[in-house]
Amino acid sequence: MQNNSNNIHPVFHRILQRKDKEALLQQKSIVIWFTGLSGSGKTTIAIGLERELNKKRILTQILDGDNVRTGINNNLGFSEEDRTENIRRIAEVSKLFLNAGIVTINCFVSPTVEIREKAKQIIGEEDFLEIFVNTPFEVCEQRDVKGLYKKARAGEIKNFTGLDAPFEAPTNPFLDLKTEGKTVDETIDEVVAKILPILSV
Ligand code: PPS
Ligand code: MG
Repeated sequence: MQNNSNNIHPVFHRILQRKDKEALLQQKSIVIWFTGLSGSGKTTIAIGLERELNKKRILTQILDGDNVRTGINNNLGFSEEDRTENIRRIAEVSKLFLNAGIVTINCFVSPTVEIREKAKQIIGEEDFLEIFVNTPFEVCEQRDVKGLYKKARAGEIKNFTGLDAPFEAPTNPFLDLKTEGKTVDETIDEVVAKILPILSV
């Protein structure tokens, strides 16, 4: 529900600004947004990326659908409306981390162009780096690490992305990361090589 109260007075001054936090941490803050099918490799690559950035003393925070949906978003399902609200809240939370000078690494199916556009608008175009974890549906289904594809095929999961719910591939991502035929470390190296130059102050 939208809060249109005239009695809300946000404070924007007197608090440390983003640039001060970035200077404190000696890093640029940014939101790295992994999108892709369930089982495409978002979480695995994000964890690897975080490990590599932390080695360089860059402070990061991972926000991941499976985790966030057990906490702040535990009242949301997988209808289009709920996914939209899921991503809206995450984008707002990401903005808080962004203003705290932290590199936020998001792993969300975020299945439609519209949903990701909304996230980008909330976060700010220049701070939103979209990475498409480009793993074909057939490969995700074959891997089926969590057994979700099997359940979805059996009709036990409704609105499953790629089956009875849409997935729209990004048209112009910051990085189109193909995972088929590559090792996990190779894909992580590819992301690190694209991201690291952006983060130095
Ligand atoms: S979304 O579309 O961005 O709101 O989804 P997200 O918050 O990333 O949650 C995706 C994870 O939830 C599990 N799961 C499903 N995914 C897709 N469709 C359906 N119906 C579904 N039901 C449960 C699944 O573990 C997803 O995690 P990943 O890591 O993507 O596999
Ligand atoms: Mg995951």
